[in-house]
Amino acid sequence: MKHNILVIGSSNTDMVVKVPHLPVAGETILGGVFQQVSGGKGANQAVAAQRCGGRVAFLACVGDDDLGKAVLSEYEKDGIDVSSIVVDEKQKSGVALIIVNHEGENSIAVASGANNSLTAQHIEDNIALIEQADVLLFQLETPIPTITRAIELAHAQQKTVILNPAPAQALNDALLSKVSILTPNETEASILSGIDVVDEATAAQAAKILLKKGVQHVMITMGDLGVFYLDAKEQKMLPAYKVDAMDTTAAGDTFNGALAAGLAKGQPMSVAINFAQAAAAISVTISGAQPSIPFGDAVTEFMNQF
Ligand code: RIB
Repeated sequence: MKHNILVIGSSNTDMVVKVPHLPVAGETILGGVFQQVSGGKGANQAVAAQRCGGRVAFLACVGDDDLGKAVLSEYEKDGIDVSSIVVDEKQKSGVALIIVNHEGENSIAVASGANNSLTAQHIEDNIALIEQADVLLFQLETPIPTITRAIELAHAQQKTVILNPAPAQALNDALLSKVSILTPNETEASILSGIDVVDEATAAQAAKILLKKGVQHVMITMGDLGVFYLDAKEQKMLPAYKVDAMDTTAAGDTFNGALAAGLAKGQPMSVAINFAQAAAAISVTISGAQPSIPFGDAVTEFMNQF
């Protein structure tokens, strides 16, 4: 079946250990059982979009190794179109070392490996994928020139461009002006706007700056506080679903993927955001990146409880 969502981004294998607290420099902590799961912001978002009802094609780069083969087969099991994923024989597949504490917070170190081999030429070679999609979803774990070229092409074709600017880094205004929906967390919003985002008032200031740069819709994801939303017509704070967090890894990815799925289905923005918040809330109650990402039916069932 033809895809309606294209995710361009990273693919990792996550090596996870749960510990009582995040170690400081030089500290060794004995932790729980080791967990190896598929991850990477791009892949997590692709999985979330697919499980939440999108038809997803994923453009990424993996190494020609066992980890790369294993993650590709996982994405295929989810029904994602992986036929355009690039295999770089010279690089290792991406790996993330993740430590999670008892509050569900994490520390992540990523060896990007083959993720850095995704080039602007790969984007040009796969322009048909962009033409086919209604919604395109990007993050910042692959090279910026690659993402920039893809966003330029998607914007020229008047597609809905969602950029999750994670992990945090500064971006130029020319790129931001081509983004339909920007979904930073507080840290990312602070770096992009120059405003220290700590509450609703500072989120509003930051979002206004980002709107002036040409972004059409800004959604600042603020954990327990919820999502701060701003577009040219309205400003609102959408409260979070209250759950007991076990592992927040991939909560933002789940939000973005579910949001893309909702919008691709034609949901109004507020409905899609609410759906995405519910999907993200479920994800923090389960350990691991992709194992924690819910299917659309489970999200609907969860929302009906409130
Ligand atoms: O957003 C969570 C993801 O960040 C993890 O799955 C890890 O692979 C890192 O890329």
